[in-house]
Formats: sequence, structure tokens, C-alpha cells
Amino acid sequence: MLDLKSKYPDFYRFYGRRVAKKLSNKSIESINYYFKSSSFDEEVINSFNKRQSLKIDKKYQRITLEVGFGNGEFLIKQSNLNKDSLFIGCEVYLNGFSKVLNKINDRQINNIKICSINFIYLIQVLKNETIDQIYFINPDPWPKARHNKRRVINNENLNLIASKLKKNCSIVVTTDSLDYYEYIVSILKNKDLIFRKIEHGELKTTDKLYGISSYQRKAINKNAKIYKVEIFK
Ligand SMILES: C[S@@+](CC[C@H](N)C(=O)[O-])C[C@H]1O[C@@H](n2cnc3c(N)ncnc32)[C@H](O)[C@@H]1O
Repeated sequence: MLDLKSKYPDFYRFYGRRVAKKLSNKSIESINYYFKSSSFDEEVINSFNKRQSLKIDKKYQRITLEVGFGNGEFLIKQSNLNKDSLFIGCEVYLNGFSKVLNKINDRQINNIKICSINFIYLIQVLKNETIDQIYFINPDPWPKARHNKRRVINNENLNLIASKLKKNCSIVVTTDSLDYYEYIVSILKNKDLIFRKIEHGELKTTDKLYGISSYQRKAINKNAKIYKVEIFK
């Protein structure tokens, strides 16, 4: 992985933390050991550089993408419940990425593919109209106005993200940041965007996404409200 990072630094550049606490020896070992077999960074980088779409096994009935999967709780749970689907996960935070690498290999999970590069490169090599669902579970809120540009969902990239969705499929975002929620709802008023329908509001406690990730649970434990936006193509 380090060789890819030094050869292609742009793909690994993003706003935020790559490592929260020192990587354990197990994490370093799993990255060294499993990276080549279980990640597809190299395929994404090569496809991007050759301006080709990423090749994806046609045997899967559905493809779900999760951006910023953190510790991978939702990704792994979903992959286990839907064996006919492929789950593509993208996460730049190496502590979480290495945990998921370990789980994929320990449990011999064969319907997850993960990459550790900035998702904006991954999204560009996905073939148009091939993805069934895209999740952003509590993306980094970047609350200061001058940092809003760093948000993974913004006015500039929403149409690009949507172009990867099949018709009648959706992008789902949950967030504990009222400001981010209102920002997303406000940019969806832009008439140039290609969406058919938008549903938004407070996430119900009965929703399957309620309490789904450690970051979200931390917010819930502090009595924060969680908001959901679902954007249908
Ligand atoms: C607030 S955390 C939430 C993690 C997880 N979804 C959860 O709810 O526990 C946001 C995650 O998005 C990841 N992230 C931020 N920018 C990213 C990017 N450009 N590409 C891929 N992942 C990104 C961060 O590393 C971080 O782990």
C-alpha cells in the first residue's frame, strides 16, 4: 500500500485524519498481508489513469457502495444479510480499513471489496447506472463555514455521484449535524440536479439505520437528533 501511496499521492489525499491512534501491530500486519488480495486500490488507480471503468464481476444482482465506512459495522452487517449483492466500501481511515481487512479474511467474506483512497476517484471509475444504493453514514460534518467545501457531499459532486446510480435507486445520508443536513437539503433545490424525489427528516428510531454505527451511537448517547436524506434518481 505504501508503495501505491508514494507513487500516486493524489489518490490518497483528503481532508481529515488517516490514523486516529497508532496502528497496532495486528493492523500493520493485516495491511501488509491482506492489502494486495482484498483491497482494490490498484485496480481503481489503474482504471482512473487509463480512463476506463472499473471491472466488476457480473454475477452480483445488486451493488451497494458505502463511503466512509469507519469501522465497517454497517458494511459487514449488510454483506452478511445480502449474499447475492456486492458491497463496495471506501474508507481513508486506516484503523477502520485494517479492521475490515481482517474481518474479510478471518470470516472469508467474499462479497465485499474495499479501497483506501479518496472516494472521489473511486466514484469516477464506477460505470454509470450500475449502483443500486449509495450510503454515507454520518459523514464528517465539517461544521465551520470555511470548511464546508471539504464535505464529501457538495453541490459540485452530487450529479457525479447520482450518475452512478441505476434508475429508481437512491443515495442515503444520515447525519447528526443539523447544519450539514440543511446544507444537503438546500443544494438539492438546485434545478440542474437530476433527482426525481427527495425524502428527508429526522431519522426514526425504528429505521434500520438508527444506531447503526459507532459514530452515530455516540451522537445518540449525547441526545443528538439524527437526520436522514434519501435522494432518488
Ligand atoms: C464521521 S466518520 C463516520 C464513520 C462511520 N460511517 C460511522 O458512522 O461510524 C466519517 C468517515 O468518512 C471517512 N472519509 C472522509 N473523507 C473521505 C473520503 N474522501 N473518502 C473516503 N472516506 C472518507 C473518514 O475517514 C471517516 O472514517
